[in-house]
Amino acid sequence: MAVLNVNIDHVATVRQARLTDEPDPVWAAVQCELAGANGITVHLRQDRRHICDRDVRILKETVACKLNLEMCMAEPIVKIAEAIQPDQVTLVPEKRAELTTEGGLDCVRHQTRLAEVVKRMHKKRILVSTFIAPDAEQIIASAQTHCDAIELHTGMYANAKGPGAIRKRLIDLERGRDLAMENKLVVHAGHGLTYRNIADVARIEGLCEFNIGHSIIARAVFVGIGQATAEMIKLIHKK
Ligand code: PXP
Repeated sequence: MAVLNVNIDHVATVRQARLTDEPDPVWAAVQCELAGANGITVHLRQDRRHICDRDVRILKETVACKLNLEMCMAEPIVKIAEAIQPDQVTLVPEKRAELTTEGGLDCVRHQTRLAEVVKRMHKKRILVSTFIAPDAEQIIASAQTHCDAIELHTGMYANAKGPGAIRKRLIDLERGRDLAMENKLVVHAGHGLTYRNIADVARIEGLCEFNIGHSIIARAVFVGIGQATAEMIKLIHKK
């Protein structure tokens, strides 16, 4: 059965809006975990716009479920991952001006660096997933560099308008899943998933881990993060 990792970056976004100490993403992680989350995801960006080093360090000590660190392959960030040793890293591209991660990682272009980072993470017993478009070349490059998993970028699905376009994006995800599984990669998915659009992707067999942030944190403002997490888990499990 597919599981949910809650991305709690935006709890830190609210804190950083006032450069204060609340709300604490560590408290959020506890609530998500109590509500049944399989994992906690945080993106340590180079500009530290939300999650900061202290958050990742304390989360490593306090999260009992999976800690998934989203990160780019810049050397200072890779060194932090080696030192803190989350359970998993999800490698993403990062542009300083973007509001959120825009596209998938180009594993073909960065294959040499990717192979090096994978080796270093594995030395520390950290699983490696690449955040990529459901594109054959990217999937093969992830497999060739010995990644453990890929996270299929669901942003194109989330932005698709009309049944035809949505269907096409779902087929792309299914094809990506097939090729990834043939190449022995575990398949995750995420980006732009909401309470309204999760059903169709949750029905795709083989997508085993969803990383969802914005929609859950947005709902949490009104119902609390525990309830928001539990409601999303219920939708993921509904077939
Ligand atoms: N997966 C990856 C790789 C991401 O970069 C993000 C955004 O931080 C997410 C999942 C979660 O996306 P959203 O906030 O749209 O749910």
